[in-house]
Amino acid sequence: MSSPRSLILAALILTSYVSIAEAPITLKGAFHGLFHIGAAINEGQITGRDVLGDNLLATQFDSISPENVLKWERVHPGPDKYSFDLPDRYVALGEKNHMFIVGHTLVWHSQTPAWVFQDEHGNPTDRETLLKRMHDHISTVVGRYKGRIQAWDVVNEALNDDGTLRKSPWLKIIGEDYIVKAYQFAHEADPQAQLNYNDYSLETEAKRNGAIALIRKLQAAGIPIATVGIQGHDSLTWPSAQLEDETISAFAKLGVKVAITELDIDVLPRGSVSHTADIDYNIKSDSRLNPYPDALPDAAERELAHRYADLFAVYVKHSDVINRVTLWGVTDSDSWLNNWPVRGRTSYPLLFDREGKPKPALDAVIQVAKATSTP
Ligand code: GLA
Repeated sequence: MSSPRSLILAALILTSYVSIAEAPITLKGAFHGLFHIGAAINEGQITGRDVLGDNLLATQFDSISPENVLKWERVHPGPDKYSFDLPDRYVALGEKNHMFIVGHTLVWHSQTPAWVFQDEHGNPTDRETLLKRMHDHISTVVGRYKGRIQAWDVVNEALNDDGTLRKSPWLKIIGEDYIVKAYQFAHEADPQAQLNYNDYSLETEAKRNGAIALIRKLQAAGIPIATVGIQGHDSLTWPSAQLEDETISAFAKLGVKVAITELDIDVLPRGSVSHTADIDYNIKSDSRLNPYPDALPDAAERELAHRYADLFAVYVKHSDVINRVTLWGVTDSDSWLNNWPVRGRTSYPLLFDREGKPKPALDAVIQVAKATSTP
């Protein structure tokens, strides 16, 4: 017969096993060993004001991207003025949580102040001046976080939807080699940093082909381009899992890795602006365009969960080439989709709801990871 002491011991061991088995699996825990799970973070999270967001971040994610604080207009607002307070805190937060820290973004046509492209009379500046500004910006910002920011979105959205180069001020003033130059400057400033090319709608054939040509050009110029960033501002129907699969395979063939950099799935009507994430779009508000002001109906919640699971199944299938999947925000209340392409809507594109509670979509993606790890 067992002694009461051994019975108590057995009961204790059993309860500890049960509690280990029942500990809720976190997002980062579920995908550990497959790829990093990231979130874009805002000022509230960087400063600690958003306690709920910070708790979710620390427990559920192991990578961060700065939603805005490292964009040119924020970090380098005037010719001789850099604002490093928030970026410094951003990087410190990532280090405190042992996260894979992403820098976003160095060269973009948007959220870049007008002075960057102008001379003292407000006319377009010349190639040499703009190249020097680009160089100074990149070497100052990348150099400051050398060895601490592990990956940089160097050029963001250089392509039009038809795959040609966007006629941005960078292209018009410097010429096509502005892209190679940007990567050269970034590589000089931190030779260890992973350099990413980042864009949206890369699943459409023409734009994907444009990106492939661009990556080949960078490789031919000796740039150690590490990843293509598929932004992943997706809808319930686009891109299909098959298209996503083909797109990832097409980039992997170039010998680069793929990062899903800005994932969110929009459940709201998009009107005429489907398949894009061009932040210049702005559609007039209309209550028909804001169908769920109070809550997402169950059927739509389930549809979102299925859609997330389908996309994550593709990412897991390609986990040998995918190095991170980053959600563009922590909770639904943080999402830019509450204000784009229509202002003031109630959007539901992420894995945690407005109160920070897990949505069915969270469980759905965790189940995808579990199915992979169970033989
Ligand atoms: C683009 C940019 C991001 C962000 C989103 C919308 O995808 O790369 O920085 O601005 O638009 O928030």
